[in-house]
Amino acid sequence: MSVAYSSTRVEVAIVGGGPAGLMLSHLLHSAGIDNTVIDNRSVTAIENTHRAGILERDSVRLLVESGVSDRVLREGQEHRGIDLRFGGASHRIDFQDAVGASCWLYPQTEVFADLHRARVRDGGDLRYGVTGTEVLDVRDEPRVRCVGADGRPQEIRADLVIGADGSRSVCRGLVGGATRYFREYPFAWFGVLVEAPPSAPELIYARSEQGFALISQRTRTVQRMYFQCDPSEDPSAWSDDRIWDQLQTRLAGTDGFTLREGPVIERTVLPFRSFVQTPMRHGRLLLAGDAAHTVPPTGAKGLNLALADVRVLAEAVERGLRGGDDDALTRYTDRALARVWKAQHFSYWMTTLLHRVASASDFDERRQLGELDSIVGSAAGTAYLAEGYTGWPNS
Ligand code: PHB
Repeated sequence: MSVAYSSTRVEVAIVGGGPAGLMLSHLLHSAGIDNTVIDNRSVTAIENTHRAGILERDSVRLLVESGVSDRVLREGQEHRGIDLRFGGASHRIDFQDAVGASCWLYPQTEVFADLHRARVRDGGDLRYGVTGTEVLDVRDEPRVRCVGADGRPQEIRADLVIGADGSRSVCRGLVGGATRYFREYPFAWFGVLVEAPPSAPELIYARSEQGFALISQRTRTVQRMYFQCDPSEDPSAWSDDRIWDQLQTRLAGTDGFTLREGPVIERTVLPFRSFVQTPMRHGRLLLAGDAAHTVPPTGAKGLNLALADVRVLAEAVERGLRGGDDDALTRYTDRALARVWKAQHFSYWMTTLLHRVASASDFDERRQLGELDSIVGSAAGTAYLAEGYTGWPNS
């Protein structure tokens, strides 16, 4: 028996309605390109998925200047530096001094909320909570099929399909002949949300004999913290006391710093890996964001990279569909990957700079401290970190 699909035709079908998919949808809409977004998650599920909280300067600019929202400038916090903490003391990296740039503390959940509101405001076709997504005929006549949240089968025919469906992408697998680059790490991050006041005005990245820890923030009363752990750790097996004990030991020092405690309200173990798939185009299908690449969370590059991808992709799609420049869609891979590999290196580098590897020798440990000293003790070292952290200029 054949299924009766309700069928629509759009220029671009976007699989994945997280920040990358919605930002692309917004940019395409602004360029007059009609598009439909589908996602198997509900809006509430995405709103409650905690991810990183730091936006590069150009990510902030994109949100504001493309007309999504300027809430980041009113409710986000400008951070003009970070602390690197090692040897029992904090060393400030002043971004403004080093490279004249800042980043913004503005959690991904807020970025999603702004984008979702903007797309609803502008009448976007957003279909959340779909099931059974299938992407077909990507070589020449792409179609997306799914069952809507109302239980009715839908088919979307499009000129292009964009896979912005995250690190568990189904679209990724449709790119025939792709090359995949992987790196696994022998650790993960234990992430917590805690009810406590901030302990410092900016983020603290700490290297200690017990391993890495990061003190980030969310609001005046809720903070986000992480510490290096074994990838097999079960978060539910950890009591609040045990978590605080780990964090306190890793932040301990001789400079009077106090880490302020409170109840742990959420705990998760975050996977830790580097991944790139190339090319990002296959026929009429293109990939964006985590679907094509993953970075470890050190340095908070994931969301920023996804936003950088879709900024370049929106332009390529406009040229491809409106300017008859199909090559622009092919060139997208190289344009996006230039930034992706810089960010891959930066995230890997910050990770190895601050984490403890069980097999590390005395030599390795002292070399790591030497590297930290040469970053905080040299203008060139500080500028290198500051430039990567606040984000390289758009190409
Ligand atoms: C966060 O606030 O969640 C965060 C900040 C910086 C990172 C990673 C995560 O490098």
